[in-house]
Amino acid sequence: MKFNFDEIVDRSQNYAAKFQEAELHYGTNDVIPLWIADMDFRTAPCIVDAIKARADQGIFGYTWRTPKYFEAVAGWQEKRNGWRPDVEKMAFAPGVVPSMRMVLTMFTQPGDKILIQQPVYHPFSDVVLNTGRELVVSPLKRDDAGYYTVDFADFEEKARGCRFFILCNPHNPVGRVWTPEELRTMGEICLRHGVEIISDEIHSDLMLDGHKHTCMASVSPGIAAVTTTCIAPSKTFNLAGLQSSTIVFNSGERKDAYVAELKRMDIARNNCFSLVATMEAYTHGEEWLEELLVYLSENMRFIRSFCAERLPELKPNTPEATYLCWIDARALGMDDETLKTFCVEKAGVALGYGPDFGVGGSGFLRLNAACPRATLEKALTQLERAVHSR
Ligand SMILES: Cc1ncc(COP(=O)(O)O)c(C=O)c1O
Repeated sequence: MKFNFDEIVDRSQNYAAKFQEAELHYGTNDVIPLWIADMDFRTAPCIVDAIKARADQGIFGYTWRTPKYFEAVAGWQEKRNGWRPDVEKMAFAPGVVPSMRMVLTMFTQPGDKILIQQPVYHPFSDVVLNTGRELVVSPLKRDDAGYYTVDFADFEEKARGCRFFILCNPHNPVGRVWTPEELRTMGEICLRHGVEIISDEIHSDLMLDGHKHTCMASVSPGIAAVTTTCIAPSKTFNLAGLQSSTIVFNSGERKDAYVAELKRMDIARNNCFSLVATMEAYTHGEEWLEELLVYLSENMRFIRSFCAERLPELKPNTPEATYLCWIDARALGMDDETLKTFCVEKAGVALGYGPDFGVGGSGFLRLNAACPRATLEKALTQLERAVHSR
């Protein structure tokens, strides 16, 4: 391997939410933090170099995006996913969550129904409820092997009367890479009932074990016409702290209205580091990403074999994408609060709390596996000791 993902980088003193915010959520900073979704790996050296070169100039004034910026975003999508988004319909966003919130506030009315599938990344329900829209939930189906699918009959029933469906593609936390057929079925149900789609594709570069991502907007022209897509280099290249993403609208008018609103808030510019980092990531970051995906796939295998051999009380899923492992901990027989406290106080590990993900989250934990294998082994060994000395 050219890049060293085994390197342990001490993030505890660099203002990292994962470490320093742990106290707020878990009551202590003295834990191995495997909760919030960023990585403990240094980003690609070419990105670090581009940021350093920008910093060396010593001038951090207002930025201006040249056409090269969205060309880089479009080129990456075309190369990786075979989907060439129209640069004329692209806009900057300070993040995927803020852009979803803006779409809802600008293009729906208070009280409108918004469909999501749970369990899912909890800001999906937050943006709906915090904007005074009505939340409609279609639970995913889980089989005995821990594999999740869409309950299409329920999805269609719930879709009736909704204005938007927010899709997590691929899915956090259950790790599904939706197949073109699944996407088409969801999309056609939305078309039948006049439901628009926001497809959150922030994890779409993180395909494990050779899985292939399908962009919702690439499934058919009809589905593209009702789909707004959110993409970002933040998960892929560990750039979340730079706060930038791209939103691809389904119409030029929507995009213009959105950009005008960003300008009214005066947040339409990239900061100077996200500007160079995004272009560098999408033009020269692929070699690093390919190695990262091999390392992450191995980490997932490591978790599965560790649990199978030494910690059978925890049943991890096999994510097809993302660096997040969804673990069935129901065999421990603890209620959710007890389970959370147990992991923190007895094992010294902070994991994502299942109920935060909504329906179907109780009894589950989410483990962020984007860390050196030694960290993963330490965390799992601490969990093993805690479970077996109960
Ligand atoms: C599915 C999903 N969407 C959005 C985000 C956050 O995006 P941003 O930081 O750009 O708002 C995350 C972060 O974990 C996520 O998992």
